[in-house]
Amino acid sequence: MSTYRLEELKQYSDTLRTRDGEAVNLRFVEPRDTDELQHYFRSLTTRSRYNRFFGAISELPKGLLSEFLDVGTRERFTVVATKMVDGFETIVAEARYALHAETSTLEFGLSVDDRWQGHGVATALMKNLECRAAALGAEHMFGDTLRSNETMISLARKSGFAFVNHPDDWKLVRFDKEINVAPKDIPCASWRLPALSRQAERPSASA
Ligand SMILES: CC(C)(COP(=O)(O)OP(=O)(O)OC[C@H]1O[C@@H](n2cnc3c(N)ncnc32)[C@H](O)[C@@H]1OP(=O)(O)O)[C@@H](O)C(=O)NCCC(=O)NCCS
Repeated sequence: MSTYRLEELKQYSDTLRTRDGEAVNLRFVEPRDTDELQHYFRSLTTRSRYNRFFGAISELPKGLLSEFLDVGTRERFTVVATKMVDGFETIVAEARYALHAETSTLEFGLSVDDRWQGHGVATALMKNLECRAAALGAEHMFGDTLRSNETMISLARKSGFAFVNHPDDWKLVRFDKEINVAPKDIPCASWRLPALSRQAERPSASA
């Protein structure tokens, strides 16, 4: 189990930078985001939604929507990247990740608004997920994508992931990266502290 408390989650916000240096805020999803999150998924192109969910959906079905809004339960989390557009905080990207404590792995999936694709948002978001993975004590992080999703495959390759066959589905490929970051070296400030306190609470190997 992670050691941070859910009521404190709001403090774990980060600023991502696009390739042009533009700031994008990254935070955990909140109940107030329900409509905006659904609007975000409806606004993705059919192809982006298909690539994200491996199937044709026009919006998040009710069950999946409530899973997305449920942050922290069973070590599953949703983050949204937002920007102010015409005075409204608008979601431009999202990621859902889960810690599998038994295998010390962090599984994730993500998407970027089609109008924002190609600006380095996913690259920055995946770097940030790596901080979160390290803070949670994961040793590997991985995701699955359709074999036809050249963009994701290219992005994963550039971000240092290796590829393996998916264990159950030949249409998917799994990309996997070893996390080898000491808590004190985690590059995202908001995640360094919980990682260090987690480390301090852990009984030492020699005890
Ligand atoms: C895959 C996805 C997340 C990439 O997001 P993005 O913010 O556009 O990615 P970046 O701008 O950080 O691009 C990083 C790299 O991806 C690759 N890439 C981006 N757009 C590409 C395109 N149209 N064709 C091929 N490769 C592309 C490039 O290697 C790029 O690096 P480069 O710009 O240095 O060449 C986005 O396309 C998306 O949301 N797709 C739909 C959902 C999805 O496929 N999710 C993945 C499965 S969980």
